Amino acid sequence: MFNMFFASHQGSWAFVAIFFVIAYFLYKAHKRKAGTILHMILRLFFIIMIVSGIGMLIEYNWAAMYVIKGILAIVMMGLMEMSLGKTKRGENGMGGFIGAVVILVIVALMGFGVISF
Ligand code: HEM
Repeated sequence: MFNMFFASHQGSWAFVAIFFVIAYFLYKAHKRKAGTILHMILRLFFIIMIVSGIGMLIEYNWAAMYVIKGILAIVMMGLMEMSLGKTKRGENGMGGFIGAVVILVIVALMGFGVISF
């Protein structure tokens, strides 16, 4: 079971990063339809990441570091939604974009054990 969660988590995180950046720039270029499709696929990957992350967390007995990693990841998804929503409406979503990318880097480094406690 752990291997299944780990493989889906490992195989999906880069898609979150890539689809977020592409959706953001599509919305910025006023390509709403293409942006919306990418945004929907991004949300599908959010679900995969949350389900597989919680699956591993249960098998790690809610180890504190991974709980914090999970919370950061959810904050990151919130920032991604905020920045995409604003950009889609023609408002400035740059703050959310930068915040999401910074947290993404931290979460990935925690996932790879570069940051650990
Ligand atoms: C989209 C958001 C997320 C990203 C970008 C992300 C990124 C990563 C990465 C890069 C890894 C390392 C995978 C590898 O070794 O190849 C990892 C592992 C892990 N993540 Fe996430 N993650 C996210 C969401 C979550 C959530 C929501 C949770 C918990 C609820 C979580 C819990 C874990 C756990 C427990 C591991 C296992 C580490 C190990 O056993 O080595 N992640 N994550």
